[in-house]
Amino acid sequence: MAVHLTLDNENLASTYDEVSNTQFNNGSILIQKLAVKPGDSVLDIGSGTGRLGRHVISLIGQAGNFVGIDPLEERIKIANGKNEHANAIFKLGNAEDLSSIPDNSCDVVYLNAVFHWVLNKEVALQEIFRVLKPGGRVGITTGAKELSSFTGVRLITDNVLKREPYNKLVRLEDSTQNQHGLTTTELIQLLAGAGLTVKDIEIKEIKRRYPTARAVIRFSEASSFGNFLNHVPKSLRDQAKADIEFELEKQRHKDGITFSGFTIFAVAEKK
Ligand SMILES: C[S@@+](CC[C@H](N)C(=O)[O-])C[C@H]1O[C@@H](n2cnc3c(N)ncnc32)[C@H](O)[C@@H]1O
Repeated sequence: MAVHLTLDNENLASTYDEVSNTQFNNGSILIQKLAVKPGDSVLDIGSGTGRLGRHVISLIGQAGNFVGIDPLEERIKIANGKNEHANAIFKLGNAEDLSSIPDNSCDVVYLNAVFHWVLNKEVALQEIFRVLKPGGRVGITTGAKELSSFTGVRLITDNVLKREPYNKLVRLEDSTQNQHGLTTTELIQLLAGAGLTVKDIEIKEIKRRYPTARAVIRFSEASSFGNFLNHVPKSLRDQAKADIEFELEKQRHKDGITFSGFTIFAVAEKK
């Protein structure tokens, strides 16, 4: 199942900027693990609307250098609109082609909530290896595929799609997460295969709270830039969303709906 980069729009992009607190918090943990410091040269791959990037720009200071790349125009527009620093830029680009970045030029490269969307992960890691300075670090956060099937929104979504009328037309294994997500073991193997030395791997249980079922769907659509349920035939997608929303709403308590998910935090080094 392909990942579509043409389904994003201004509304999904600005919604993402508003509702991506969990990604921001995870990203801040990753940046701490990467020990980003003043003067560093940093590449943010899949920068989105630049929330985490703005935090990193404040850490590297005026002596640092920051480039954020993302394939989605609407997200880059928001990121540049909110950037106030001349030593930082957000531009269109994707993980598999870092040709605008010189060899051995980055102290830190990171992909926060991005690597599961990258189609050619081997090529992306080859490129990351090339642009890192010796001693430079790459940081990745991504969902732990081996733990995804019994958690949160995913469990409810899959249970709905196993019912009539979806079961004859939808293959659960075609979901983006199943097709492009990766297990912790696969991530370690990929990093090592690219010549990177894994320094730190941690799986954290991350809790997310949403006020309503509608908010869960809104988050899922914005964070997947329109790819939510793209393994469901178009003619059934709205009905599936409504059915999932109905099931999600049953989970709501007075504080809203809380879900857990397992996120991998990985740091690797180019020796
Ligand atoms: C969930 S958002 C994460 C955004 C941001 N990193 C954050 O922490 O909020 C996923 C981002 O990955 C980007 N993306 C998808 N495929 C990509 C690729 N092949 N290379 C780089 N970025 C990609 C999307 O455009 C989207 O902005």
